[in-house]
Amino acid sequence: MTDGPDTTFEMKADLEILSSLAKRRGFAYPSAEIYGGFQSTWDYGPLGVEMKRQIRELWWRWMVQSRDDVVGIEAAVITNPAVWRASGHVDNFTDPLVDCLECRARVRADHIEDNTCPSCGTVGRFTEERSFNLLFRTFVGPVEEDASVAYLRPETAQGMFVNFDNVMTTTRRRLPVGIAQIGKSFRNEITPGQFIFRTREFEQMEMEFFCDPAASLEWHAYWKAERLRWYREALGVPNSLLRLRDHESEELAHYSGATSDVEFRFPWGWGELEGIAHRGDFDLRAHAEASGKQLSYFDPEREEHVVPHVVEPAVGVDRILFALLCAAYDEETDERGEKRVLLRLPPAVAPVEVAVLPLSRKEQLVPTARRVWDSLRPHFRTQYDDSQSIGRRYRRQDEIGTPLCVTVDFDTLEDHAVTIRERDSMEQIRVPTEGLVAALRERIAALEPKMTAPASAPGEGR
Ligand code: GAP
Repeated sequence: MTDGPDTTFEMKADLEILSSLAKRRGFAYPSAEIYGGFQSTWDYGPLGVEMKRQIRELWWRWMVQSRDDVVGIEAAVITNPAVWRASGHVDNFTDPLVDCLECRARVRADHIEDNTCPSCGTVGRFTEERSFNLLFRTFVGPVEEDASVAYLRPETAQGMFVNFDNVMTTTRRRLPVGIAQIGKSFRNEITPGQFIFRTREFEQMEMEFFCDPAASLEWHAYWKAERLRWYREALGVPNSLLRLRDHESEELAHYSGATSDVEFRFPWGWGELEGIAHRGDFDLRAHAEASGKQLSYFDPEREEHVVPHVVEPAVGVDRILFALLCAAYDEETDERGEKRVLLRLPPAVAPVEVAVLPLSRKEQLVPTARRVWDSLRPHFRTQYDDSQSIGRRYRRQDEIGTPLCVTVDFDTLEDHAVTIRERDSMEQIRVPTEGLVAALRERIAALEPKMTAPASAPGEGR
C-alpha cells in the first residue's frame, strides 16, 4: 500500500466487498443485528477496535505528542446548550431536505443528481426544499421541558473554543497554540450510509490551531501540506488516492472563511476525508460575546490583546478506517489459479501485526508454539491460530492484513528456529526463536511507509 511513482491505483474494493469482509472477519457488524440492525449504525468488532485504536494513536502522536505547540483536552459530549446557540449550530447547522413525491424517500437536496430521486429513480417530483437541523436534542434531568433541552455535540471543536482561556492560563503558552481532541460526535444525518462513511454517531479527531491573524493564511497552507503528508507517510495511502480541494464559497460552513478538503478516491468517486478550515476568529468572538468573557491573547511583545485566528484540521476516525480498507484491499490469483484476498495495510494500522501458527495441532508442537506466542504478546498485536490447514490460515491472515506470520513446525523442536512469512511477498525466512522479537521488529520497520521532512512552519528560517 505504499506510494509508488504511479498515478494510477486500481481500486479492487467496492462497498459490498468491504462491508461483507468487515462483517465476516470482525471489523464492523450492523449494530444490534439480532434485532435487524438500526439505520446505518455499526458496531466495531475485535479487529475494527484494534485498527481504530491505532489510527487514533498515530494521529495523537503526530498532532500532539511529537509537537511543541499542541496540547490535548477531552470535553463533555453534552454541555451547556448556550455553546451551540453561540456557535451558530442551533440556527445554522442544517442540510437542505426534500421528499420524493413518488416514494416518500427523504433526501438531501444537494445530493440529488440530474433531478432524479436516488431511491426510486423518479425524475423531478420533489417537495419544496426546506432546512433540516442536524443537532440531536435530548433532555437533561428528570423533566422533559424546554428549559432542560440539551444537545449531543455535533463536533468536538467547540470544546476547544470554550476551554481556550482555561488552557492558555493553565499551560502559560504563547501563540501559536493548538488544542486537540478525539471523541464522539453526533449528527442527525438525513441520509447516512455507504457503510461507515456517513453515520449519525462517529468519532472525530480535531485540532484547533490558534495563531496570530497575520500568519493565519500561512498556517492554513502549512496544515494542508502537513495533513496530506500524514496520510501518505503515517498511513501509507497511495498518492493517487489523495487530493486537496478548495471549497467553493457556496459550500463553506457558516463559520469558515476558507476550507480545503483532503479528498480520498472512494469506490464511488472522490469524497471528503478531512476538512482543513480557516475559521478566523468566528468562534472566539461568538463565545466572548455570548458569555461576556474576554477570549483573547495578550501579546507581550505588542503589548495588546489579540483575538487569535484558528486553522482547524478535522477528520473522522471511522472515515479513515474505511479509506484504509479501500486502499488496502487487493485480490491476486496464485500459481494454482486460486484467488488470494489480502489487505495490504501498513503494520502500524494492521489489527494484528504477527500471527503465530503451529504447523499442526499435534501435541508435541502446542507447548512450543504457545511459548513463542507468550514471548510475542507483550511486544506486538498478535493472534494464535491452529485451526484448519496452514494454507487456509495464511489466507485468513492475509485477508485481515496481518503483515507477518510466524510458523512453528517440527524442526522448531530441534533447531529452535521458526519461519517468518511475509504477507505481501509471501517470502519465508527461517530465524532463531532467540532474537525473534528483534527480527520481527526489523521486518515491520522495513514494511512501514517512509518519512520525509515536515513542511516548514510559518516563521521558520526567517
Ligand atoms: N469541526 C469541523 C467539522 O466538524 P466537518 O467537515 O463537518 O467539520 C470533519 O467534519 C470530519 O468529520 C469530516 O471530514 C469527516 O471525516 C468526519 N465526519 C463528519 N460527519 C461525519 C459523519 N456523519 N459520519 C462519519 N464521519 C463524519
